[in-house]
Amino acid sequence: VVAVDAGPHRWRTIQLAPDGWSVEIVDQTRLPGDVVQRRLTTVAMVADAIRTMQVRGAPLIGATAAYGICLAVRADPSDGGLARAADLLRATRPTAVNLAAALARMRARLHGAPEGSRQEIAYAEAQRICEEDVAVNRAIGEHGLAVLKALLPHAQRPVQVLTHCNAGHLATVEWGTALAPVYRAHQEGVPVHVWVSETRPRNQGLLTAWELADAGVPHTVIADNAAGAIMARRAVDVCLVGTDRTTAAGDVCNKVGTYLKALAAHALGIPFYAAVPGSSIDWAAGGPDAVPIEERDGDEVRVVAGRGADGGAASVRLLAAAAPVANPAFDVTPARLVTGLITERGVCDASAAGLATLYPEHP
Ligand code: MRU
Repeated sequence: VVAVDAGPHRWRTIQLAPDGWSVEIVDQTRLPGDVVQRRLTTVAMVADAIRTMQVRGAPLIGATAAYGICLAVRADPSDGGLARAADLLRATRPTAVNLAAALARMRARLHGAPEGSRQEIAYAEAQRICEEDVAVNRAIGEHGLAVLKALLPHAQRPVQVLTHCNAGHLATVEWGTALAPVYRAHQEGVPVHVWVSETRPRNQGLLTAWELADAGVPHTVIADNAAGAIMARRAVDVCLVGTDRTTAAGDVCNKVGTYLKALAAHALGIPFYAAVPGSSIDWAAGGPDAVPIEERDGDEVRVVAGRGADGGAASVRLLAAAAPVANPAFDVTPARLVTGLITERGVCDASAAGLATLYPEHP
């Protein structure tokens, strides 16, 4: 794990190995119990790491897929090899638009380039995608910090943020999106406390708690079903979530359960913001129905993973293998429930008009 001085965690979730070509990740299926690094050497390994959620979170999926193209081009720089690699990677997870966007960007960069130079071009572009992610999240942190600071006088206590899933360091290359403002607040001495919803069935909230603890940010984990009650007792000043795909109309697709929190926040008059890097905006998606929702294996609901009494990794079956379950991984919060979008270019209304003020190049 290489130290970088840009962000609150000083290490990156993805990086090149010392050999200069293979790719190192931290296996997030082993967190928060164990920090296990994995070295990916083929595009098939990259596709598997994304599919099984060893890496996860929209921006990190995009960055990992970009390195998947590097490994593919290293093995076979032909047009056919490139197309097969992109198809393999695109099929891993359908919802986070960063994946398709990173693949399109890599292919555009490599299109027409001589096969002999493709490897160098691919690694440079993947590196750029990672550096941009860090810079974009840092900027989201700055704009989001202003939102949190504005809430402070009303709060008369540490600003109480409620988040869902993990839209932090672990979901990006560094900083995170929804957690970047929290980290900036903590750095600036703005008192902040985060309510972390567990996020069944994959429990990404535990990743959020782990990285907040690592950065020394006060937080409390709650069961998903407690969020409404905690908001109703006025213990939350603002909801702040990430996104896997935000439509051109400002609808926010994010981890399943986000919509319920937005409904509760709307009913109680609590501001609800999404942190949205430009790479997560799908300009071709005009509304909620345009977002493909990933349906994941029912065993994620039937079986829970954790630690046994001996401290080792353990899993517990809650439901019989044949028990019928549905496992949609994401939901879409309609723009009308979203107070604002915090982007790297500033904060805007969750609407086509709002986005147009910040991204005029996308009419
Ligand atoms: O299924 P996951 O863990 O990949 O889902 C992640 C989320 O839903 C995050 O909130 C989203 O990707 C934003 S990450 C900055």
